[in-house]
Amino acid sequence: MRGLWVGSAMALVASAVAAQQFGGQQDRAFADQLWQIMTDRNLAGDDAVQAFPYAGTDPHGMMLETFYTDATVDGRERALVVKRNYGPEGLTVDEVLGSRDDHLASVTVMFRREEGYAPDTGNWFWAKYLPDGSLDQTPEGMPIAGTAQGCVSCHASAEGDDYLFTTNADLQ
Ligand code: HEC
Repeated sequence: MRGLWVGSAMALVASAVAAQQFGGQQDRAFADQLWQIMTDRNLAGDDAVQAFPYAGTDPHGMMLETFYTDATVDGRERALVVKRNYGPEGLTVDEVLGSRDDHLASVTVMFRREEGYAPDTGNWFWAKYLPDGSLDQTPEGMPIAGTAQGCVSCHASAEGDDYLFTTNADLQ
């Protein structure tokens, strides 16, 4: 009986740990919440506001639009950076402006989470969405949401130690 109890307690601990891993249940739920906020705020989805796209490179896309704002999640207002990535290679500004939906490949997002979320990497939450708001996946089939190593490893080389390439502004 006691063995059983210990066993199930350990299973509980194990599932709690799994939920905290990159791409786990909590990260996916948070990513869904964030997508809802972005569509409500017209930062994503059918009625998304538009900017003049600029030329980008791999891995993000050949044409990019980037928006800097704050969002309130769970009562905390924090920095939110939304990048829309268009392709394929050779795409022109006019093609993006003329038919965005046909060229949008993904929406990549950085959101500054609460202190203690990921102190070693600036507490940034990373997510990569497909145009319909579902999460893109790693080759291993993990949804890309959370402290995504693939994103962090490259953004770690951004000047200013803030994981932001485009700015050194203090986005809290
Ligand atoms: C191989 C390097 C590399 C990888 C991997 C990468 N990025 Fe980026 N990212 C960049 C570069 C370079 C920029 C600046 C591009 C620009 O807008 O001109 C950028 C810009 C961004 C921005 C705008 C804020 C900023 O840093 O200036 C966001 C948001 C972003 N990336 C999210 C992500 C997410 C989410 C992932 C993982 C799914 C990811 N990135 C993976 C190189 C990378």
